[in-house]
Amino acid sequence: MGRPFPFLLNSLSLPLPLPLLCFLSPMFLKTLTLFAILRATTAASADQWRGRSIYQIITDRFALPAGANTNVCNPGDQTWCGGTWKTIQDNLDYVQDAGFTAIWISPINQNYQGPRSAYGDPYHGYWSADVSQLNERFGSADDLKALIAEVHRRNMYVMVDVVVNNVMSTSLTPNYSTYMLNDKSYYHPYCPIQWGNTTSEQNCWLGDTNVPLPDLDTRNPTVISRYGDWIEGLVKDYSIDGLRIDAAKHVNMDFWPGFAAKAGVFCIGEVFGGLEVDDVAQYQGPQGLDSVLNYPLYSALSAAFAIPGPQNMTALTTVMQDSKTQFKDVTLLGNFLENQDLPRWHNQSTDPQTLYNAMVLTFMTDGIPIVYYGQEQGFSGATDPWNREPMWPSQYAKTDAYKLIQRLNSLRNYLVNSTDWLQQDSQISAVNNNSIAITKGSIISIVTNIGSPPQNNVTIAVRTGFKTGTPTTNIVNCQEWVVGSGSMVEVEYTKGGEAVVLLPSSQLKASGLCGTDGSDSNPASVIKSSATLQNVSRTYGLVFILVVSGYLLEHFL
Ligand SMILES: *[C@@H]1O[C@H](CO)[C@@H](O)[C@H](O)[C@H]1NC(C)=O
Ligand SMILES: *[C@@H]1O[C@H](CO)[C@@H](O)[C@H](O)[C@H]1NC(C)=O
Ligand SMILES: *[C@@H]1O[C@H](CO)[C@@H](O)[C@H](O)[C@H]1NC(C)=O
Ligand SMILES: *[C@@H]1O[C@H](CO)[C@@H](O)[C@H](O)[C@H]1NC(C)=O
Ligand SMILES: *[C@@H]1O[C@H](CO)[C@@H](O)[C@H](O)[C@H]1NC(C)=O
Ligand SMILES: *[C@@H]1O[C@H](CO)[C@@H](O)[C@H](O)[C@H]1NC(C)=O
Ligand SMILES: *[C@@H]1O[C@H](CO)[C@@H](O)[C@H](O)[C@H]1NC(C)=O
Ligand SMILES: *[C@@H]1O[C@H](CO)[C@@H](O)[C@H](O)[C@H]1NC(C)=O
Repeated sequence: MGRPFPFLLNSLSLPLPLPLLCFLSPMFLKTLTLFAILRATTAASADQWRGRSIYQIITDRFALPAGANTNVCNPGDQTWCGGTWKTIQDNLDYVQDAGFTAIWISPINQNYQGPRSAYGDPYHGYWSADVSQLNERFGSADDLKALIAEVHRRNMYVMVDVVVNNVMSTSLTPNYSTYMLNDKSYYHPYCPIQWGNTTSEQNCWLGDTNVPLPDLDTRNPTVISRYGDWIEGLVKDYSIDGLRIDAAKHVNMDFWPGFAAKAGVFCIGEVFGGLEVDDVAQYQGPQGLDSVLNYPLYSALSAAFAIPGPQNMTALTTVMQDSKTQFKDVTLLGNFLENQDLPRWHNQSTDPQTLYNAMVLTFMTDGIPIVYYGQEQGFSGATDPWNREPMWPSQYAKTDAYKLIQRLNSLRNYLVNSTDWLQQDSQISAVNNNSIAITKGSIISIVTNIGSPPQNNVTIAVRTGFKTGTPTTNIVNCQEWVVGSGSMVEVEYTKGGEAVVLLPSSQLKASGLCGTDGSDSNPASVIKSSATLQNVSRTYGLVFILVVSGYLLEHFL
């Protein structure tokens, strides 16, 4: 497949959209400059995060210093492998080239420093000790500031993971003077968690008797005020743009609004959960946090797309419908397929198309996409510690998954920056047992759970909302085609279950996708083209001819 059809695009292109015209005005440029200057000192709000796309990094595992021995990092050893803030800084091109506009890094505060525990060393950063200090393993205060300055220079944001619920110990009788909150009275007395009992989940200690996690009494006024001062200072001192809050559901909810106000930046909480939307949704809003990680969507995507798995599309449609009514704001949720606590997608479902199809929805439905480092490299470790693989053996290759992410990020960044796409609601436009079509604004994502092997008996017909005859492009493989009669399109999978993401071709040029700005050197196919797009209508001969002649001219002149 060659470069897409310049003739067709030219003959059908719309007048310049308003945002582009504004772009040219000197007033706008002035505002932009002012904005850039302010950015360095202004923390980012929930609204500013809505359009971002996040790459999650385990600081210890993302990159080594130049010249380090790359053969020594076995996740099973549960010890440090040598990644730092500096090595993240040195490898930001890889992240930015994939189109991400934010990174989320491991907790930055001091961790347990005693002899190796029953579960190894705190290479992950979640075993807090004195949070008023930085984690020296990851570098100095200057290194952290340099990383964040460089991220900001690239117009990206930094989200820092923080652990507030608990500290870490190797016994049930910790030496409390080693923590910032250094008195026994600031902690709940030890009790093991009774799962399902909310009070117990909030007040008893996470961990176990080998590695207990002493639980802060977050109703104690001293704890509240010292935590507040701490987070306010941390965010200001390092110009942090947002916080990911560990174990948010293990803290009494009324603690969060005050804490988040002190932080003054976007806060997204970890509320571990399954398909039940209301369990998780109750934490989002003025009574809790700006947002939460979207565990219900993760669970639903896994139930619908993983092979083997229940292949249950109803689980997905149910979660999507419940989310709309139960979450305060679905467009702020953190959509993901992997993280440091879950088995990698490929540990449960090895077919690459199952990952690609599910991943398309994490980008193209409501919410903020999050990709866990290595997801784009096909890592396949099981749960902790196997899901914290070193990144370097991948050699940071531009894999098919990486290229798909590049396209999804480019498309989303374009939509965010130049259209009102973020404000549009996601709608389910069609669904059957093997496929689903989601429309958000001018984008229609049609995905399937059949995996790579072709199937002749699966199709999905979708009413697009575009006029019959509208040229559209599937940005997954840059194939162009035309909306059929009755505004319908139909996808069949006689060549395999590849995802389809449709954009009206008139928007292609502005989006920079599919080679229209010359930057896309391989527009033919990112992933081996396999889904077949059925042109339902045969009445658009003229368009056909234009497309074909455009193609011929492009290729043979
Ligand atoms: C507790 O920790 C403090 C500060 O590190 C140390 O000075 C003290 O000796 C420790 N106490 C015990 C009993 O280990
Ligand atoms: C729930 O846990 C709390 C805290 O441990 C405990 O006091 C309470 O008795 C438990 N409730 C039930 C019904 O077991
Ligand atoms: C599919 O998911 C729905 C909604 O969660 C559930 O009610 C149903 O029992 C599931 N079906 C199967 C076969 O797992
Ligand atoms: C899942 O992870 C475990 C541990 O890392 C590994 O032994 C197993 O091979 C993985 N399974 C797949 C399908 O990759
Ligand atoms: C969109 O805006 C962000 C933030 O200003 C910027 O970093 C990015 O390059 C823009 N993306 C596109 C596709 O214009
Ligand atoms: C869809 O799946 C359900 C549950 O597995 C099954 O009962 C039904 O027959 C399937 N529908 C079709 C059209 O295959
Ligand atoms: C399609 O055919 C395959 C292979 O014969 C079969 O396993 C599958 O259940 C069929 N799917 C539908 C939706 O009929
Ligand atoms: C659909 O029609 C368009 C133009 O009418 C053509 O360029 C395209 O190749 C067709 N797509 C398929 C998959 O046949």
